[in-house]
Amino acid sequence: MSESKNRVLVTGATSGIGEALVYKYAQSDIVTACGRNQDKLAEFESRGVSSSRFDMTDKQQVFDAAEKLEAHDIIILNAGVCEYIDNANKFDSALFERVIQANLIATGYCLEAFIPKIKKGGQLVIVSSSASFLPLPRAQAYGASKAALSYLTRVMQVELKDIDVTLVHPGFVETPLTNKNDFPMPCLVSVEQAAERIYEGVSKRKNEVHFPKRFTLFLKLFSLLPFNVWLPLAKRIKR
Ligand SMILES: NC(=O)c1ccc[n+]([C@@H]2O[C@H](COP(=O)([O-])OP(=O)(O)OC[C@H]3O[C@@H](n4cnc5c(N)ncnc54)[C@H](OP(=O)(O)O)[C@@H]3O)[C@@H](O)[C@H]2O)c1
Repeated sequence: MSESKNRVLVTGATSGIGEALVYKYAQSDIVTACGRNQDKLAEFESRGVSSSRFDMTDKQQVFDAAEKLEAHDIIILNAGVCEYIDNANKFDSALFERVIQANLIATGYCLEAFIPKIKKGGQLVIVSSSASFLPLPRAQAYGASKAALSYLTRVMQVELKDIDVTLVHPGFVETPLTNKNDFPMPCLVSVEQAAERIYEGVSKRKNEVHFPKRFTLFLKLFSLLPFNVWLPLAKRIKR
């Protein structure tokens, strides 16, 4: 086994951005693909990619999976879910709990279990969303989970010793997660483009990777302006 190859773990590897990341990294590195979908994980195994099956919302499963792992150079916490709250007047707290549990609390389990598995000088990558930049319609659960996730990641960038942390803020990427969306998705990119951008940014050990810039810079600009500028626009998007 070549010493120059990195050992890379990807969560949410059975679909969308995570799957594209597995194929990208597998070209040059040794990859561990994580998820729950047994058929997809078996497909990876048949192609020489090792796999680890666990539900990230189950703390015991996350710890059992981590215990079996050897040390990795790069851990990419990419798994996530998206559900929208259709009627704010009838707030769905069960939906809210599901999304916060999967995108935020489960990340806490993964951080506790997997950080000890990152080699000294290694890297942690967390996939948040550009939805975290601004309040978007119906995104009370998803946007809040990702805004908290970005904050959490920023604090890890301040605090972690001997591990570089990259925070990823994708715009719209064509995946099963966005295929469910019933609204226009400006500047939509393919999973291959997303994986390429993440791979490049992680290789350069960037603090933040955001793409496509024509979309994320627009949101970042509005996030700097007073909320009164964004509010009417957000209400128009809702209509
Ligand atoms: N697509 C976009 O436009 C977009 C934009 C911004 C940010 N993102 C973020 O990018 C990440 C990947 O999104 P995607 O679009 O590629 O989504 P996707 O195609 O729906 O894939 C989601 C992945 O997460 C895994 N997952 C979900 N719940 C899990 C659980 N309880 N335990 C273990 N794994 C679980 C799924 O694996 P199993 O079903 O096998 O468990 C699947 O591999 C997410 O964090 C998402 O929020 C996506």
